Amino acid sequence: MKVGIIGSGTVGKTLAKGFFKHGYSVMIGARDKNTLLEWSKSKGMGIAAGSFAQVATHGDFLVLAVKGECAKDALALCKESDLRHKLIIDTTNPIDSKRKPVNGVLPFFTDLNLSLMEILQTAYPNTYFVKAFNSVGSDLMVNPVLEHKPSMFICGNHSESKARTAAILDLFGWEVEDMGMMEAARAIEPLCMLWCISGFRNETWKHALKLVR
Ligand SMILES: NC(=O)c1ccc[n+]([C@@H]2O[C@H](COP(=O)([O-])OP(=O)(O)OC[C@H]3O[C@@H](n4cnc5c(N)ncnc54)[C@H](OP(=O)(O)O)[C@@H]3O)[C@@H](O)[C@H]2O)c1
Repeated sequence: MKVGIIGSGTVGKTLAKGFFKHGYSVMIGARDKNTLLEWSKSKGMGIAAGSFAQVATHGDFLVLAVKGECAKDALALCKESDLRHKLIIDTTNPIDSKRKPVNGVLPFFTDLNLSLMEILQTAYPNTYFVKAFNSVGSDLMVNPVLEHKPSMFICGNHSESKARTAAILDLFGWEVEDMGMMEAARAIEPLCMLWCISGFRNETWKHALKLVR
């Protein structure tokens, strides 16, 4: 199983290491792959580094882990044919970097009636976006150790891709809550605001969300 990680920030590196630990062939990408060579040689031993385009070619499926504001730009650096009919696990949040949080509430550049993932899905209708990993900090993304098994809320239009994402989340120690089609990203993306509010207020970042019945 080959995964291509588009994004070299903390999320990209954490998930790259997580997939590698679970036996995947991993390539992580930056706009300039040279910025990753040192990391790839030391902390990311065994994880290949490439450009966004090389990563998109490498992966049977992809993870998108770039600044929300640049998500379209990052995908535009990949060959469209490398994105077609592929699952993209979308970790991004539409955080507006030009504005500061207000009392711990992050500003978004989207509104509640149109999510970032819908914007990406509309731009790439033949790609299978699944929202996941956006509602927790990177430290807890891979096999978190918490009092209870946490929930990961996912959504997307392609059932097979959601099933594939669910299997990955199960491997990574998460209970999967499928919220349906892409429009559910309007609710899932703001969960990152909620997660951060709790972090800012309590000055601790070792928490995750859980749906109980
Ligand atoms: N940090 C967390 O704990 C966390 C948790 C959940 C979700 N998220 C979401 O996950 C995503 C990644 O977060 P992060 O904290 O790992 O990193 P980040 O700082 O938000 O993003 C870094 C990535 O964005 C790319 N980027 C920046 N400007 C760009 C541009 N103009 N064009 C194309 N790509 C550009 C960078 O490219 P280069 O590689 O070339 O530098 C890098 O790969 C974000 O959307 C964030 O909201 C973050």
